[in-house]
Amino acid sequence: MDISPGALDDAADRLGRGQLVAVPTETVYGLAARADDPAAVARIYDAKGRPTHNPLIVHVASRDAARAIAARWPDAAERLARALWPGPLTLVVERGDERLASVSAGRATIAVRVPAHPVMHALLERCAFPLAAPSANRSTSVSPTRAEHVAASLGERVDLILDGGPCDVGIESSVVDVTVDPPRLLRPGGTPIARLRELVPDLDVTPVDADAAAGHASPGLDRRHYAPDARVVIVARTEIAATVSEAAAPVGLLTLASHDAPVDWSLALGDDPTAYARGLFDALHAADRAGCATLVVECPPADEAWAAVHDRLARAAAR
Ligand code: TXA
Ligand code: MG
Repeated sequence: MDISPGALDDAADRLGRGQLVAVPTETVYGLAARADDPAAVARIYDAKGRPTHNPLIVHVASRDAARAIAARWPDAAERLARALWPGPLTLVVERGDERLASVSAGRATIAVRVPAHPVMHALLERCAFPLAAPSANRSTSVSPTRAEHVAASLGERVDLILDGGPCDVGIESSVVDVTVDPPRLLRPGGTPIARLRELVPDLDVTPVDADAAAGHASPGLDRRHYAPDARVVIVARTEIAATVSEAAAPVGLLTLASHDAPVDWSLALGDDPTAYARGLFDALHAADRAGCATLVVECPPADEAWAAVHDRLARAAAR
């Protein structure tokens, strides 16, 4: 999707004046505001209906810019950043810049990443300030992977939407806390766990408990998150036919390989976890648009390569 230099200048100018701009990233669309302006940051929380105890991710153009906002930059941060930025990884570090306190929701730490999307990168290079950007959806609903999803969820609440086409990764960045030893995976995401482990062999990948997380390691991990309007039921492939026959109609069906159960909407996303993740949120949005009351989802393999997909599906199914 081509965005003209003039459109990027306009977006940077609006951000400079404290407006909200929805931006494409390689993971999901973000709702951006300048991170050093508490009033602009407050507008993000307001537009999303996001609880103010849930801190935001700060986006910067380079590893040097990330290091500049950290009070300490541990070895693990350097190894991960060198290998994986720009890309779908967020590092939680000790905050070293008082002007960014409002994105941290009162914490001494700050989450930072260097995104890979060329539009977001070009925008960051035009901005003299870091951009706070959570996913560009109302809080607890499904994250947007297309500009249309942003418009449907936030509408007039956002001043400008930059359409950068569909997101390539399709789920949010992996979040790694490098303030603790060993570093801890707070949220599985766009970077495979196996890749993180190559760089940080002792990475703690124990799932963060949703209830305990409310006040602790990662406050954003509310159990019900990424949820479509349809009731999501996750079942083994062998249980699909029986589940579909008992489910409240209209029924949608999301599988790995296609399945012939009689449903009102269906999609097969294949058995590659990267391609599945790319299509997942778009599928949840599509099932809602199709009016599904129930969405039956075939449970993907229990392999670690599917950890981020399992995490998002479990949240989509939580009531
Ligand atoms: O891929 C992404 O990360 C997208 C794109 C737009 O960059 N952004 C995103 O932001 O997913 P958001 O706000 O929806 O998720 C931020 C996550 C939440 O789970 C939040 O709790 C966690 O990062 N987080 C932010 N700051 C933190 C901190 N200081 N300590 C621990 N967790 C933090
Ligand atoms: Mg989000």
